[in-house]
Amino acid sequence: MTTTDATWWRQAAVYQVYPRSFADADGDGIGDIAGITSRVPYLARLGIDAVWLSPFYPSALADGGYDVADYRDVDPRLGTLEDFDAMVAALHAQDIRVVVDIVPNHTSDQHEWFQEALAAGPGSPARDRYIFREGTGPGGAEAPTDWESAFGGPAWDRAADGQWYLHNFAVEQPDLNWANPEVRDDFVRTLRFWSDRGVDGFRIDVAHMLTKDMSEPLPSRAELDAMPRDGAHPLIDRDDVHEVYAEWRQVFNSYDPPRTAVAEAWVDRARIPLYARAESLGQAFNFDLLEADFAADQFRRIVTENLELAASSGSSTTWVLSNHDVVRHATRYGLPHPERDADGRPALKHGNEWLLSGGRQPRLDRAGGLRRARAATLFVLALPGSAYLYQGEELGLHEVAELDDADRQDPTFFRSPGQDLGRDGCRVPLPWTRTGGSFGFGADGAHLPQPAWFGQCSVEAEEEHHDSTLTLYRRALALRRELQSVEQLTWIDAGRADVLWFERPNGWTVVANFGTEPFPLDRADIVLASTDVPIGVVPGESTVWLASR
Ligand code: GLC
Repeated sequence: MTTTDATWWRQAAVYQVYPRSFADADGDGIGDIAGITSRVPYLARLGIDAVWLSPFYPSALADGGYDVADYRDVDPRLGTLEDFDAMVAALHAQDIRVVVDIVPNHTSDQHEWFQEALAAGPGSPARDRYIFREGTGPGGAEAPTDWESAFGGPAWDRAADGQWYLHNFAVEQPDLNWANPEVRDDFVRTLRFWSDRGVDGFRIDVAHMLTKDMSEPLPSRAELDAMPRDGAHPLIDRDDVHEVYAEWRQVFNSYDPPRTAVAEAWVDRARIPLYARAESLGQAFNFDLLEADFAADQFRRIVTENLELAASSGSSTTWVLSNHDVVRHATRYGLPHPERDADGRPALKHGNEWLLSGGRQPRLDRAGGLRRARAATLFVLALPGSAYLYQGEELGLHEVAELDDADRQDPTFFRSPGQDLGRDGCRVPLPWTRTGGSFGFGADGAHLPQPAWFGQCSVEAEEEHHDSTLTLYRRALALRRELQSVEQLTWIDAGRADVLWFERPNGWTVVANFGTEPFPLDRADIVLASTDVPIGVVPGESTVWLASR
């Protein structure tokens, strides 16, 4: 493999593997590292440049593995470090890079540091690695502040000795104290540990929340909400977080090629370049398409703004239609009025009629959602920048909405409580075969139950069809490699507000019809289309690629 190419990430197609739900080699119902290795031929055939693995570290799974108990090991249920090395070697042999997830805002409450902190008591150096405070009110029985966790409910929990600790996510995810040098040193060790094992890059979880100003008096929740997010907010997107990343950048650059990093930073758009700068993490997620409707004006604005934003930091942008935290895009585009959560992201709520699969009034337009998803994907894969794909979207999978409450695992479901269906519906183990106890995922069971319709979306079923979504992704990714060019596009006026048309410098042209009326296009050089294209038109809700070569 080309180890010297330092720019591989700029226009890479990166495939997100959610390890517990990808492939289960040992048949215990939980996907594992050996399962991923066994599917390397599939990944190579798909035509991706890199995989990003969501956490596979030892974890009590309070938050799907984002509660890490040991940053430098593999969860025994998922394998061993030797299995990990074998997986990296197998991926590298196919020229596929490996990106791992780093979760630095919080550990698991099972992490040895947190257990030590609980045992050591107030005022101890062990407690100073986290954020412990005395409570308020009589006997300190009330939390230090009224802050809320991102998953709902209070952001503080009480230790047995009466002190309170901060957890911006689940109770089992205590926030680390980034003012403590031991915390900083330990993460540098972790980054080196995985870099030395051949990992090519890192995805940084909640990158905008590490450093905090916890000086007294602490503000109330209302005060926090009213504060501008201009770099001096006590909890979010502080300027001083970049001191951490400047140090990490030196670590990354001490490798050849330099290790890459991409920030998961939910911050004001204007502040994204701070994370994407070469001196910082180097790239930052652009999540705008996760919140957009399938609409030409929104897509065009998002593309223009994000290309400009990335250029201003010297980085390349990232296109994301689906990931492990959101409703799959085939489903988002098939709902009449997607419900939105407090942050404006589409969310599934109890009580939506369409959730009753086959029920009285199923409101999900499955075929329409998939048609629009395929058009959006083909549009996005032609853009300059890197494309992040989420496992299963290449099969055109819909969200699994019909999970029983008793089977759900996501803390956002339990902490809402039950109002937000949470993220389990996009984390159901992949179907590899038409039939079989777990559709080829593993032996019999899968840790989240798969619906009967998974069989017809399985890899086996889709490999047999020339017009399947899997075939579309394979063709698109192969062509993308061939056609990829300088990071530029030129908009062409299509003469219709619902049609977007752009060209890349080497003659690669894309026409996307977001409307329902066919768009006349008399071209013989169509190389790929998201749907069946009759001669002379681009049908509604379809994208075509043209290549004059
Ligand atoms: C990120 C992850 C999400 C996780 C949260 C807390 O947003 O993508 O899955 O729950 O961080 O670690």
